[in-house]
Formats: sequence, structure tokens, C-alpha cells
Amino acid sequence: MRRPLIVGAQKLYLGLDQAIEFARRLVEETRDKSYPFDIAICPSHIKLALVAQVLAGSKIGLGAQNVHQEENGPFTGQVAISELLELGVHYIIVGHSEARGEFSESSEDVHKKLQICLKRREKTVTPIVCVGETKQERIDGKSKEVIEKDIRIIFNNIRRDEFDVENVVIAYEPVWAIKGGKDDKLTEPASPEVANEMHFFIRQLLSKIYGHKIGEQVRILYGGSVNAANTQPYLRQPEIDGLLVGSASIKIESFLQILDKGAERMSEPQSTEARKELVVSN
Ligand code: PGA
Repeated sequence: MRRPLIVGAQKLYLGLDQAIEFARRLVEETRDKSYPFDIAICPSHIKLALVAQVLAGSKIGLGAQNVHQEENGPFTGQVAISELLELGVHYIIVGHSEARGEFSESSEDVHKKLQICLKRREKTVTPIVCVGETKQERIDGKSKEVIEKDIRIIFNNIRRDEFDVENVVIAYEPVWAIKGGKDDKLTEPASPEVANEMHFFIRQLLSKIYGHKIGEQVRILYGGSVNAANTQPYLRQPEIDGLLVGSASIKIESFLQILDKGAERMSEPQSTEARKELVVSN
């Protein structure tokens, strides 16, 4: 059973005081509730230390929005994994589309970032690896090809006997569905069915690379214009194990609504529709 996860990635929004107030409210409002999923927020790096203090001892995990691929060295302006771990970060987003491309983060860099996260077995940090095709790639019918190529580079030589691959979280984030993102939108946002199909494809691919058991264990989140109104339709899809929320995680009310919708959805009886079996050859 995969435990779902809902992450608020707050990008470069909120001032220091606003981020602290957001975290304080979140801790307070969630304290007496129980959620059948994990919850985390990822403020920008400069706010991590302060937000960590507010989240300490609560059910909310702390996440970072990126990490440098090297342990240390002459890398001005970068943040090292050891620093994030000292702050008590539980999750690290790598390969977000807003960090790729014009900020020249390549699939090879994302691979190194994943490796550096997984090396730290003694301190659990969960990498959230983002993948997603652009609008043009979808129009050209290349979505799956692009995702497969990217995943194969990112996971290249990440061996299951050496690393806890099952601990990795993947976020499928079609670049064209990200609100206010750098890619033009398609006329329709990613429907839950389209997202589910892509998640199924990613899971099959992981099963091919790592075997059925690991393929079944890896959590795959959906991200791109998630809000309270579409939370339940996404979470009803059998391959969607949670959400990576951007803009709707900046206002506390909207993030709390998403959490409530998620909890409501998970108390519904399971769909009777048979889940497609993963038929893969290793
Ligand atoms: P959005 O962002 O929810 O604002 O579309 C998602 C993301 O960039 O992860």
C-alpha cells in the first residue's frame, strides 16, 4: 500500500513573516486531525531554518525546492545537501521544470541530485523527482517518449541493491499544466484521466527497470494547476498517489481545503473498478 503524499511547493512566493505565519496556521489547523496521507511544505531555501522551527514536532514535513549536485566546493549561491539535512529537511524536490531549461539544469544534473539524496541512507531524505513534457512535445505525440528518456537518464546507474529506490517519489508535472509557468497552456488542463495514463506509464517503466515490487512501491504525485476543486478527481485515479501543489499552496485557506478534500476522498469506499494489472517483463 502506497501512503499518499500532498506537498505544497511555495516557489518564490511569501515573505519571511508570511511563510512563518503560514506554517504556524498549518500546524495549528492540522494538530487535532488525522490524515491518511503525509503532508509537507517546501518554502524557498532562505526560509527553511525558520519554518523548520515552527514545524518541529508537528505532522507536517519540511521540504526543500532544490539542492546542489555536489557535496561542497566552489559553487557560489548553491545549497548543499548536508546543510539541508542539518535543518531537518525530509523531502527535496529535484528536476522541477522551473529549475531546468533556462536555468540549465539538465537530466544529467537531476541524476546527480537524485544520487546525492539517495546516498544519505543514514538520514532519511525523500527525493521528489519532477518529470513532464512541454506543450509542443504533447502536441507532437511525444509525451511518453520524452518522459522515458528523461527517467532513464535520471535513474541511470541508480542500482536497487545500492540505493533505496522505493523511497523515491516521482512527480508527473506536465510543463503546460503548471499555473503561471513558462510554457503556454493547452486549452484544457491535464485531465485526471490523462494524468493517470501518464502515471501508469511511469510505473510500468519503473517496473521494467527495477522490477514489479519497486514499481508498485514508488509514489507518483501529480502536479500542475491543482486546487481544491480538482483534488478529489485527481486522487480518485488509481495511479495518482498524491499531489504537488504550487500556487494553491501559498494561501493557507486554499492549502487547508486541499488537505480536507484529500482526507474526504480517502474516506470514500475504494473504487470497484478493477485496477489495470502491470504486465511487465524485467
Ligand atoms: P501550480 O504549480 O500548482 O501553480 O501549477 C505546480 C508546480 O510548479 O509544481
